[in-house]
Amino acid sequence: MYGENESTEQTSLAGFDPASSDDPRALFEELRKQPVLQIGPGFAALTRRHDIEAALRNPALFSSREEAVKLGNVRPLIPLQIDPPKHVKYRRILDPLFAPRQMAALEGEIVELVDDLMGKFVGRGECDFHEELAVPLPCTVFLRLMGLPLGDLELFLSLKEGIIRPPGATMEEQEPERKRTADAIYAYFGDLVDERRAKPGDDLLTRIMGSEVDGEQLTKEEVLDVCFLFLIAGLDTVTDSLDCFFAHLAQHPEHRRQIVEDPGVISSSVEELLRWESPVPGIARVALEDTEVGGCPVHAGDNVFLLLGSANTDYEAMPGADVVDLRRNPNPHLAFGGGVHRCLGSHLARVELRVVLREFHKRIPEYSLAPGTVLEYTPGLRSVSRLPLVFSPVAEFVG
Ligand code: HEM
Repeated sequence: MYGENESTEQTSLAGFDPASSDDPRALFEELRKQPVLQIGPGFAALTRRHDIEAALRNPALFSSREEAVKLGNVRPLIPLQIDPPKHVKYRRILDPLFAPRQMAALEGEIVELVDDLMGKFVGRGECDFHEELAVPLPCTVFLRLMGLPLGDLELFLSLKEGIIRPPGATMEEQEPERKRTADAIYAYFGDLVDERRAKPGDDLLTRIMGSEVDGEQLTKEEVLDVCFLFLIAGLDTVTDSLDCFFAHLAQHPEHRRQIVEDPGVISSSVEELLRWESPVPGIARVALEDTEVGGCPVHAGDNVFLLLGSANTDYEAMPGADVVDLRRNPNPHLAFGGGVHRCLGSHLARVELRVVLREFHKRIPEYSLAPGTVLEYTPGLRSVSRLPLVFSPVAEFVG
């Protein structure tokens, strides 16, 4: 157990990464034998659902402030790296802009984007789902929301990758690229904020800049700290989810058929596949005081990972959590986190995921992995580097 002398079992867990595991559920089941894992000096992970929920509800003890995760930013990311009570001020500004009704209004536009992207491969009988749909869709949606030119797509993708997956095996090796990318992000959004100040538009950025709490607007630096977070929280996570969903469905024809035969199951499928795949397998916190979890000590200053994927499949806390049930309802999963920092973009993500499940299966009801494909899941956030699918070419109607 954590805090005892390093046992062989603990040492062998060093460097574990549930995101890139071929079978994260089995790994999580193994990890849950201990409530707290020591994964390195000053680094621990909580494995069990009740402990993770309690930590999410206690930001005064398990804080998400800057020390919890280093992403190249020079100031805390807003609102993620701000503790309550100040955190409330930012969510009061941002929540209404990401409310379910606002996001539902984007559905028609997202359908068009998905149709356009699919139009490039439906007639071919094969595609790389990752490259041709999962990557471009969320980024294009974001550019549209912020009122940015679609020609910035490649730039945006490289900025996101430079923070999330910079080259190098260790944090130290990755540091220079993260730093360079962070400078580029601040410069890009800095120019944009100046432009919008001079000439406001009808877009999310203008609305964020114009929102007020207690009679005060956000400063330029605060707007930049929000934009930086959006870029890394709102694009990759949807790509990861789409990759995980379609990798699962391509290998589980019984679930794919359920969606094709009854599109009414799509909403609950989104929740269930988010739970089962947990594309964000863990999130970072820093302990602010000495404490105990499940009888194991956690020390002030420790970096503590909350293994959301493990909480989501902890069948001892949630009976039946070890099987996929696309009709599961209620489905109190933690794929979007929990507590005050629960995902701001969950309603946007849900619309994107629902539209892709519906539109893809309408046009391509039968598909499978290209023969010989071995899926390679990425570390950190769970996606695949390639997702080659094959299907019968669809003849497009040209009217
Ligand atoms: C399926 C896709 C998504 C997943 C799985 C996901 C997951 C998460 C998780 C687990 C957290 C909690 C982080 C923590 O507590 O440390 C979070 C927070 C956040 N997410 Fe998402 N996210 C998704 C999509 C999005 C989108 C589309 C946006 C768009 C802006 C977004 C913006 C945010 C923001 C701003 C926060 C911080 C909220 C706060 O600190 O109050 N996310 N997300």
